[in-house]
Amino acid sequence: MLILYGSKYGTSQRYAEEFARLVGESAHPVREKLAPPQDGVTVFFGAVYVGKVHGLKRAVRLAARGECLFAVVTVGFAVADESYRKQLEASVRAACPERLLPRLKQYRLRGRLNEPALKGGDKFLLRLLHTAAEKTPASEQTPEMRALLAAPADLPDLAPLKELKEDIARDISSDRTRP
Ligand SMILES: Cc1cc2nc3c(=O)[nH]c(=O)nc-3n(C[C@H](O)[C@H](O)[C@H](O)COP(=O)(O)O)c2cc1C
Repeated sequence: MLILYGSKYGTSQRYAEEFARLVGESAHPVREKLAPPQDGVTVFFGAVYVGKVHGLKRAVRLAARGECLFAVVTVGFAVADESYRKQLEASVRAACPERLLPRLKQYRLRGRLNEPALKGGDKFLLRLLHTAAEKTPASEQTPEMRALLAAPADLPDLAPLKELKEDIARDISSDRTRP
C-alpha cells in the first residue's frame, strides 16, 4: 500500500502517519519519488485549500500506476455539509482520468486551523475569506463560509482513523472481488 500526503501545515501529514502506523506501513509526501505500490493500493491524504486538494495532481499520477483502490481522503473544515461534500468529490473526480474512476473512493477527515503557523499568502487569504464570510448574511453564506466560521483550532482527532482503516479495508476487498 502506498500512503501519500499533500499537506501544508501538518494536519494531513499527521493523519497519514497515524493511518500508516495502524496498517504497518510508512507515509510519504506526495512530492517524493516513489515506486508503484506492490499491492496496487494507493491511499492519499490531501488538505483542501479554497476548494482544491493540495497535491492531488501528483497523487493521481502515482495512483494511475496501481491497479487496485485509489483512496482519496480529503482533509478540510467542511466535513459535515452534504452539498459541499458533493462539490468537492466532483472536483476530485474531474482531476482523475476516466480509467481511474472505477477504482476511486473518497473519504473525509476534519481539518484544523493553526492560524499562528500560517505563512504570508495563506494568512492573508484566510483573513479575506473570513471577512467575506462575516459580511455575508447567514442565509446567503456558502457551505465553505459556514465551515470556515465554525473552524476548529484544536489538535487533529486521530480516533476516526480506526474507522477509516476499516472502511478502506472493506473497499479494497470489494475492489478485488470485482470481475
Ligand atoms: C487559506 C485557507 C483556505 C482553506 N480553504 C478550505 C476550503 O476551501 N475547504 C475546506 O474544507 N477547508 C479549507 N481550509 C482548511 C484546511 O483544509 C485545513 O486547515 C487543513 O487542516 C489544512 O491541512 P494541512 O495542515 O495538512 O495543510 C482552508 C485553510 C486555509 C488556511
